[in-house]
Amino acid sequence: MTQAGTGPPLLGGHDLKVKTLGPCRRDSPLASLLRARRRSLNSMEESDRVLLDDTAAMISARGGAVEDLPGFEAGGPRQKIFFDPSKTRAGIVTCGGLCPGLNNVIRGLVMELTLHYGVRRIIGFRNGYQGFIARYGYPVLDLSPEVVRDINEDGGTILGSSRGQQDPEEIVDCLEQLGVNMLFVIGGDGSLRGAQKIAGVIAERDLRIAVVGVPKTIDNDIAFIDHSFGFRTAFSRATESIRAAHIEARSAPGGVGLVKLMGRHSGFIASYAALAKNDADYVLIPEVPFELDGEHGFLAHVRRTVQERGYAVIIVAEGAGQEHLAGEPDAADASGNARLRDIQRLLQQRITADFALHGRELNLKLLDPSYAIRSVPANPYDSVYCVRLAHAAVHAAMAGRTEVMVGRWHGRFVHIPIPVATSRRSTVDPDGDLWLSVLEATGQPAHWGRPPEHDRVASDERW
Ligand code: F6P
Repeated sequence: MTQAGTGPPLLGGHDLKVKTLGPCRRDSPLASLLRARRRSLNSMEESDRVLLDDTAAMISARGGAVEDLPGFEAGGPRQKIFFDPSKTRAGIVTCGGLCPGLNNVIRGLVMELTLHYGVRRIIGFRNGYQGFIARYGYPVLDLSPEVVRDINEDGGTILGSSRGQQDPEEIVDCLEQLGVNMLFVIGGDGSLRGAQKIAGVIAERDLRIAVVGVPKTIDNDIAFIDHSFGFRTAFSRATESIRAAHIEARSAPGGVGLVKLMGRHSGFIASYAALAKNDADYVLIPEVPFELDGEHGFLAHVRRTVQERGYAVIIVAEGAGQEHLAGEPDAADASGNARLRDIQRLLQQRITADFALHGRELNLKLLDPSYAIRSVPANPYDSVYCVRLAHAAVHAAMAGRTEVMVGRWHGRFVHIPIPVATSRRSTVDPDGDLWLSVLEATGQPAHWGRPPEHDRVASDERW
């Protein structure tokens, strides 16, 4: 699902070796369960690795011996662990924008720590990294199986969240004061970079505190994971708006439904939602620039589709076409992310003007379900994924892994060093199979501004 790029991915010189706090000398409470397992295709030895590459061509391009091929450490429980559960105190924080499944991950962490490892002290930090900083005055929340029992029924996070970094020195002061030995950070790339700084201060102070990340991104843009939790829930929910846009467009002369979906730099939600409904005419994403004007530009295309078929449905990711809004002032959010200019408004203005210029009737309906798709509870698939990520995160922390993120790569749970995870962003590859499927499903041109016979992908879904 993730398009991490073609050919052997560049790792920017980062090592895939995971940092540990020290040797694992204690028997894990799960050891007897592990010993009873037979080897199978679905089980991996602790010492095994999941290769970075998954095609014969990629592996052969690397050359060298199998043991030299880059790969991620296998996730999952270990026979021996680093921490003594009876003396362990865990902390959990959720950072950044909401995402379906946050409460499921919190619940999964608390249940696994408590019921399987016997950790009795777990605290939740409120409102992201602000929860560690004295001047904000947020009390910590004691977490237990009773407290988290039903939280997975709701969207959002019982801990609250916030954007933006806080001083890692102050955060580590707080961890020391509270005697926290392992910190779980559920957050996106900015929050993971924060976790890396926290792990750096911990190492400088020679402390034994594990920092384990659980990748959270509604946009599905964190690299080296198959997909992010909550993503499937979000694009499934988005299909309801596409259905509404379709019905509205079909029911009026000159009907056009224009749906804006989240996706700052990566158009995964727009692409998957479009494929799930399989009846959109145009999908615009940040990774694929488009021409507005000219005979083979976007506006003329939409006009012709409405003229020939009677209506059109357009899905636009919020980060698409920013090049057409370059004159507007810059702004950034608390995480330092550029505030996007409103592409939906621009398209509304330009489509309206174009139809008027050509004397065509237009009934343009705008839909923007943005927050509605990320505040919902996780669907059953994501719920399963969340609880398994939580288990993997607890196993990693108990084994003393640190500055690490858990994730699933090629279908297997792995440990990804945080500097590797944040070294690049996962985006829709315009030359990859996902985008090809979108072109096939919509029949839209692969390259705007060129005559259709040069690059149009035939579609059996078109009228
Ligand atoms: O980063 C995830 C995301 O949902 C983006 O898709 C969106 O641009 C942004 O967060 C909006 O976040 P907020 O308005 O909460 O800052």
